[in-house]
Amino acid sequence: MASSYETLTRRSRDLFRRARGVFAGGVNHNARWYEPYPIFVERAEGNHIWDADGNRLTDYWMGHMALILGHSPRIVAESLRMQIGKGTLFGVGSRRSVELGEEVQRSVPCAERLRFCNTGAEATMYLVRLARGFTSKRVVIKMSGGWHGYNTELNAGVHPPFYGPEGAGILGEEQAHVRAVRFNDLDAARRAVRASKGDVACIFLEPVLGAGGCIPADGDYLRGLRELADESGALLAFDEVITGFRLSLGGAQSWYKVTPDLAALGKIVGGGLPVGLVCGRKEILSRADPSRREGFISIGGGTFSENPLTMAAGLATLQHLRRNAATIYPKLDALGRELRSGVDSAFAESSVEAHTTGAGSLFLTHFGVLPVNAEEAASGMRGSATRYALAMMTRGVFLLPGHAGGLSTCHTRGDVTEFVEKSGEVAGLLSARSSK
Ligand SMILES: Cc1ncc(COP(=O)(O)O)c(C=O)c1O
Repeated sequence: MASSYETLTRRSRDLFRRARGVFAGGVNHNARWYEPYPIFVERAEGNHIWDADGNRLTDYWMGHMALILGHSPRIVAESLRMQIGKGTLFGVGSRRSVELGEEVQRSVPCAERLRFCNTGAEATMYLVRLARGFTSKRVVIKMSGGWHGYNTELNAGVHPPFYGPEGAGILGEEQAHVRAVRFNDLDAARRAVRASKGDVACIFLEPVLGAGGCIPADGDYLRGLRELADESGALLAFDEVITGFRLSLGGAQSWYKVTPDLAALGKIVGGGLPVGLVCGRKEILSRADPSRREGFISIGGGTFSENPLTMAAGLATLQHLRRNAATIYPKLDALGRELRSGVDSAFAESSVEAHTTGAGSLFLTHFGVLPVNAEEAASGMRGSATRYALAMMTRGVFLLPGHAGGLSTCHTRGDVTEFVEKSGEVAGLLSARSSK
C-alpha cells in the first residue's frame, strides 16, 4: 500500500527531502509529519486539493478543520480582494473588527465580551490568565489528551503516557499548577478539585476532545462539570477552537446547552486566515480593560491581532453561516452521521473492529474499542490508522493520518458515499493483512 503511495507522490517526496534541509523535521507543524513522508500541496479549491504530483484529492482535513465553507469560497475571496485594496494591516482597530466581534457576541452564548488574537494557542494562554486573575486561584484542571495549542503550560498530558511535560525544554515547574484528568469521568474531575483544596481557577476542556480522539463529551458530564465548577468557586472554560461555529452557530456550548464562563475560539472565526479569540462573561473580561487601575489582568498583544484580512475573511464567513444556519448545520450533521455509520458498517463487513467517533461534521475512525477518553483512544491500533489514511490517499481521499476529519459545505452526499465505498475497499485490505 505504502509503495503505491510512494509511486503517486514522487514530487512530494523530493519536496520533503528539500524541506528537511530547511525546517526541523521537514514540517512547520508536528501534526503534519507522518511516515513515509507528507504530501505537499500546490493548490486547493472547494473540497479538493491538488498535490505537487498533480493528484486531485477530496480533502477531509480541510486546513485543520478551519475551512467549513471549503477552500477559497467566493464570498471570502471577494471580501479579501476588496480588503487588500484598502490596506492589509492598520495596527489599530477597524469597523470590520467591531463587526466581526459583534457577530461572535450574537452567536456564542458566553461571549459577553471578547478579545481577538492570532492563534488558538494565544487564546488558551489568555484564557488561563483570565481565569487565574479573576479567581485569584492557581490550578487549571485539564483533560488528558486535551490539546490547546503550543503554549507552554498547557502542553501537559496531551500524548501518552498523559503525564507531565510533552518534551524537553518545558519545565515541570511551569506546569506545577496544571492537572490532567480523564475525559468524560466526572469522579476524576471531582477528585482533582478536592485534592486542589480550594485552589482551582478553572476546569478547562474541549467539549469534543479533538486531537485526543475526536470524542464527544457526554451531556451529563458537561452539566456535572458546570455544577462542580460552581460548587468549588472555579470557572468552567471551554476550548472551542475546533467546535466553535462548527457544531452549531453557537458552538458546542449551544449544542450541549451548557454555558461556560470563558471560552477560546479560533479556526472558523478567521475564515481561513490566522485567528484566535478569548471570550466570556463581561465581569471577567472587563478585568482586561487597560483603563482599569486595580485588578488589571494583562492580556492582548499581537502586532497582527484584528488584522484587516482576517477580519474581512472572518466576517464574510460568519455572516454567511448565520444567514444560512438553518440549512448548513442540519446538512453537515446529516452528512456526518451518514459518514460515521457508513464507515463503521464498511469495516464491520470486513470483520475489522473499527469505530468512528465524532459529532456533527467531525469524525475519526478508531481501530479497536469505541473510546470515551484519550487513554482508550491511544490504546487503539495507530498503525492501522496510518495505513487506512495512506490507502485512502491512493484512492483520491485526503485524511491526515491519525487526525480527525471535518466536512465542509462543499462536501456532498455523493462525496460521503464515495468515502464509505473507498473505506470498504481499504477495510478489505486491512482485514486481509491482519489475517495473514
Ligand atoms: C482544541 C484546540 N485548541 C487550540 C488549538 C490551537 O490553535 P492554533 O493552532 O491556532 O494555535 C487547536 C489547534 O488545532 C485545537 O485543536
